[in-house]
Amino acid sequence: MHSFDEYRELVNSHLTDYIPETAPKAAILRESMEYSVKVGGKRLRPCLLLAACEFAGGDLDQALPYALSLEYIHTYSLIHDDLPAMDNDDLRRGKPTNHKVFGEDIAILAGDGLLNSAAEIMTGEVIRYADDPAVMLNHARAAHEIMSRAGIRGMIGGQTADVKGEYEEATPELVTFIEEHKTADLITAPVRAGLMLAGADDTLLERFTAYAHDIGVAFQILDDILDFEGDAELIGKNVGKDKDLGKCNYVCVHGSDAAHEELHRLTARAKAAVEPYGEQASFFTELADKLEIRKY
Ligand code: IPE
Ligand code: IPE
Ligand code: MG
Ligand code: MG
Ligand code: MG
Repeated sequence: MHSFDEYRELVNSHLTDYIPETAPKAAILRESMEYSVKVGGKRLRPCLLLAACEFAGGDLDQALPYALSLEYIHTYSLIHDDLPAMDNDDLRRGKPTNHKVFGEDIAILAGDGLLNSAAEIMTGEVIRYADDPAVMLNHARAAHEIMSRAGIRGMIGGQTADVKGEYEEATPELVTFIEEHKTADLITAPVRAGLMLAGADDTLLERFTAYAHDIGVAFQILDDILDFEGDAELIGKNVGKDKDLGKCNYVCVHGSDAAHEELHRLTARAKAAVEPYGEQASFFTELADKLEIRKY
């Protein structure tokens, strides 16, 4: 296993390598896609995929295209999330949002381009292993996991509930649905896909799915807390947005104290899920702790 910083360095050194060639007439599209991918970001999701794959004895070279594909999907979700029709944000990763730089038309297409590139990259990887059906099946399962958790039963479904969830109608059930799908699914996907690439067994998959679900929901609860209490400079995005937009988030439904308590409870439960692996799983327990106290 490597450290989080080592995985992030690997991701950052191949950041745009997997985006397919773009025709000269569409150069602006590539520029726009690369702008949002390169502009910054914690790289949590690709690092989780690499770590999960290595933990289960898999090969980092095989995992890297999936890790980047996931970062492309995550970045597309942010570009679209920031559009005037959605959250109408002008700051992301400490820089102007994609549509502020390239216009809404290109921002929409850049998001489409990143999502489609991910599907193209992953299906290309599946085909690459056609002469080894067992490996090919592992790759197909990983690709399916990522596309379905990013899809209408996953992130896109959660975003739908988020944009339609009005503050006045907010219920604990609605907020849980939103957090599990708009965010936790894209954190569970890399963990499960990384394990699948390594051909992990069901017990490993189950325990790490529980871990990823809990750090994923905790991640969004803290995002909601930071939207109320955070420092815009540090976070690299505007604060107070959820309240302005009348968003149904964890803090407005449960209050700040309960949000902090739930963040702590979920972090502890996530660590307990991988406890059977002891020191071997320290990457994951330490990451859960770091995420609980992140300021951005
Ligand atoms: C932002 O995700 C969107 C949420 C799901 C809260 P991150 O906080 O991981 O964003 P980056 O990748 O570091 O910019
Ligand atoms: C967005 O949630 C989650 C996505 C799927 C992009 P938010 O709208 O709370 O994310 P931020 O706060 O803008 O990063
Ligand atoms: Mg949003
Ligand atoms: Mg937003
Ligand atoms: Mg937010």
